[in-house]
Amino acid sequence: MAPPLHVVVLAAGIGKRLGGCHPKVLTPLWGRPSVAWVVAAARSLDPERLVVVGGRTLPELKEALAGEAGLRFALQEQPLGTGHAVASAAPALEGATGALLVLYGDTPLLRPATLAHLAAAHAEHEGPLTMLTLQLDDPTGYGRVVRDAAGRVSAIVEEADADAATRRLTEVNAGVWIVDLPWALHELARVGRDNAQGEVYLTDLVGRATGAGRPVAAVPWAAADDLLGFNDQSELARVRRILRRRIVDGHLQRGVEIVDPDTTFLDADVEIEAGATILPCTMIEGRVSIAAACQVGPFVHLRDGTVLRRGAKVGNFTETKKAVLGEGAKANHLTYLGDVQVGEQSNIGAGTITANYDGSAKHRTMIGARAFIGSGTVIVAPAEVGDGATTGAGALVRRNTKIEAGEVWVGVPARRLRGPSPDEPPKEPPA
Ligand code: UD1
Ligand code: CA
Repeated sequence: MAPPLHVVVLAAGIGKRLGGCHPKVLTPLWGRPSVAWVVAAARSLDPERLVVVGGRTLPELKEALAGEAGLRFALQEQPLGTGHAVASAAPALEGATGALLVLYGDTPLLRPATLAHLAAAHAEHEGPLTMLTLQLDDPTGYGRVVRDAAGRVSAIVEEADADAATRRLTEVNAGVWIVDLPWALHELARVGRDNAQGEVYLTDLVGRATGAGRPVAAVPWAAADDLLGFNDQSELARVRRILRRRIVDGHLQRGVEIVDPDTTFLDADVEIEAGATILPCTMIEGRVSIAAACQVGPFVHLRDGTVLRRGAKVGNFTETKKAVLGEGAKANHLTYLGDVQVGEQSNIGAGTITANYDGSAKHRTMIGARAFIGSGTVIVAPAEVGDGATTGAGALVRRNTKIEAGEVWVGVPARRLRGPSPDEPPKEPPA
């Protein structure tokens, strides 16, 4: 039986090079913080313990990961370096044996296959430390891997400590390691801070191993994208771009038609059924669900809580938030729908606005089935529009209005023009 495997995710750094106001590992990436992507990848190895190390912002970190089952948290009181961060996880790893996978919270592109490859390499290797390395055309910012004449790894030198010749080395530490757990905790307690950054470097474990005559395995990994970290805004933008494309590709593989993958922006928690079509320049954020035969776009912004039932259509410069559109309902032009329920086959005319916010609270609008909302209608919520009812172009429906089924309301403020007509069938929205 393989020895147990545990994971520690380092998330206590301060990310000074990003210039932002929130901790780096909480940087939102398509609806999830960076560290949540790392945790998701780590779970693929089915670890016995999964520890996240946080610093000053540990409470924020716990909150951001509140939906995750079975995590343990550890506090690193001061950001004294990656080695110190791993050592800070010791209380959460008490009594654990076996191997420890060390991941950094700022490498959200990690994939299960990459981690499985590392785990397999570590299992075959008799030394206490196995790491993945990358060849980079531009290694700036990374720790350089130094090998001896025989090709064995002798050290990792951080950029800040490297001389010119070492800086020219293009093989770098990817920051994905498996170490023998008791060995690593024992050695880290002996690593000093005598370096350019005054930090306890995790990377000093390499010297501790080789110094004791134990081999270090450094496994080159060709899929560099998987291991990219982000230390500044341009690296962050690159990580976002790659992750965005992976999300889009996942939907394409499941049969969603995405006309222009390059201008389609989907959060990780967006659900789209096969057979839906997403037109160009579309951004879909948060928890959104889109059924088959729906059409979204071009130039559409769907926000959290939007649900489009089968065959619904949302187009040209429309924004939705907490909006449920029934089967075949349409909002095709220049519309804002917030906190709305729209019944099946209803047509929302160009320029319709649901005024859901009164300056202090949000209110709901209920629109029934087969309703016809005229162009430029403003509905001040809370309000209700019954099945088959009509509003005239430019109608202003005041708050607390209830338009009964089949009625026609027009004007500013809107008044009832006539009741339901028995001979006239409810309007079918135009195709
Ligand atoms: C680190 C590696 C470097 C490697 C690079 C790969 C060290 C010393 N250097 O450098 O060799 O090429 O990653 O991306 O390990 N963190 C803590 N507590 C701390 C410091 C950092 O939890 O005291 C966390 C950060 O939140 C981050 C991770 O550790 O998630 C890495 O820290 P960072 O400062 O980004 O390290 P790099 O300088 O990129
Ligand atoms: Ca980093």
